[in-house]
Amino acid sequence: MTYQQALEKMSSMGQEQVLRFWDELDEEQRAALLKQIEETDFSPIDRIHGGRQERGVFSPLAAMQIYHIDARRKELYEAGVQTIKAGKTAALLLAGGMGTRLGTDDPKGMYDIGITHPLYIFECIINNLLDVVRETGTWIRLFIMTSEINHETTVKFLKEKGYFGYREDMICFFRQDMAPVCDLEGKLLMESKERIAVSPNGNAGWYSSMLRAGLGRYIEEEGIEWIDVFAVDNVLQRICDPCFVGACVLSDVSVGAKVVRKAAPDEKVGVICLEDGRPSIVEYYELSREMAETLDENGEPAYNYGVILNYLFKTAELPRVAGEKMPLHVVKKKINCLDEKGEYIRPDAPNGYKFEQLVLDMIHQLSACLPYEVDREREFAPIKNLTGVDSVDTARELLAKNGVVL
Ligand code: UTP
Repeated sequence: MTYQQALEKMSSMGQEQVLRFWDELDEEQRAALLKQIEETDFSPIDRIHGGRQERGVFSPLAAMQIYHIDARRKELYEAGVQTIKAGKTAALLLAGGMGTRLGTDDPKGMYDIGITHPLYIFECIINNLLDVVRETGTWIRLFIMTSEINHETTVKFLKEKGYFGYREDMICFFRQDMAPVCDLEGKLLMESKERIAVSPNGNAGWYSSMLRAGLGRYIEEEGIEWIDVFAVDNVLQRICDPCFVGACVLSDVSVGAKVVRKAAPDEKVGVICLEDGRPSIVEYYELSREMAETLDENGEPAYNYGVILNYLFKTAELPRVAGEKMPLHVVKKKINCLDEKGEYIRPDAPNGYKFEQLVLDMIHQLSACLPYEVDREREFAPIKNLTGVDSVDTARELLAKNGVVL
C-alpha cells in the first residue's frame, strides 16, 4: 500500500489523523504504519454509533443448585474423575486482558497478593489446578491465552517461576487477536507516531485464536472433549473441578457455567437465563423489574444466578460456533495513547472505547447449558480493582477464610 492509498482509505473513514506524524517517521516506521493500515479491520469503530444490540425474549433457566449437587456428589465426582483420568479434559486460562482497573502495566496474573510472602495471581490459579492433578493423578493440558501486549512478559515470568510447579510440556501459550481503539468521538488513537493503538479484542476469540496457533491438534490427538475456560482474576476458583465436569458429562449439555447465587437483588452481575429459548446471559442493567420479581416454583427469584466466567465447553460443538457471527461490545476504558501533540499520556479517566467479543455470548450459540451453582465464599474471589468491591482486599480476605496463607 502506498501513502496515497493509505490516505484515501483513512480519509474515507474520517480517520486521516493517523497519518498526522508521517513527516516525522523514518522509512521503516512508515512501512510499518502502511502495513497496519492495510491489514487492520476498522469496521468495529462504526459500532460506537450503533446503539445497543436488540435482545430476544428472556425466560428463566434453572440451575443445578448446591443441594442438588450434594445429593449426587459421589456420582458426579466419579464421572468427573473418570473423564479427567481419560485425558478428556483441558483447562484454558484467559489472560489476554489488560487489567486496566487494577492499574498495573504488568499482566494481571503477575500481581503479588501475598502479605508475608509472595503469592502471585498466576500461582493461586496453578495451585488450584494442581489440586485436581494430585487428586486424580492426571496432568491436565493447560492452554494460556495472552495478547500481543503481554505475551513475552507472561511467558518469561512463568518460566522464571518454574510454572509454579506445573509441567512445562503440559502448557501451551497462544496469542489472541487485537482490535483498533478510538477516542470518545470515534477517532482512532495512536500508541506511537507510527502505530495505531490496538487492544485485545475480547475473550471470545479464544477458540479461533487457539486454532490459528495450530493448537487444535491437541484436541484431536489427545481426545480432549471438554475445555474449562476461566478468567485469570478469580483466585479461588476450582478449575476442572471433578464434580462440575461430571455434572456436565452426565447432563449431556454443550456447555456448563459455574454460577453463584446473587448476593443481593441489585448485584451487578450477568445472570444466566434463556433468550428466545436458548441459553444466554442477561446483564444486570437489562434485567427488568418484572424479571427481578419473577419467582421459581420454590418461591425463589427465577433470575438469581450470576456467571463467574468459568465455563466448561464441549469441544465437539466448537467448530460450528466458531463460524457464527457474535455481538461486538463497545467498552469505555482508560487507554494510554498519544495526545494531539504526540505526547504519550496515561489518562486518569476513561478516554476512549475498546471493542470486544465476549465469551459469555458463546453460550447463546450453544443448544444446552448447565448452570452449576458454587458457593461464592469458596469459589469466587475476583480481583478487578485495587480496593473496594472485587479487589485485592476482598480476595485476600476470602483466600484467608479458605485457609490460604498470605
Ligand atoms: P475483564 O473483563 O476483567 O477485562 O476480563 P480485563 O481487560 O482483564 O480488565 P479491565 O476491564 O481492563 O480492568 C475478564 C477475563 O477475560 C480475559 C482477562 O484476562 C480476564 O481473565 N480477557 C479479557 C482476555 O483474555 N482477553 C480480552 O481481550 C479481554
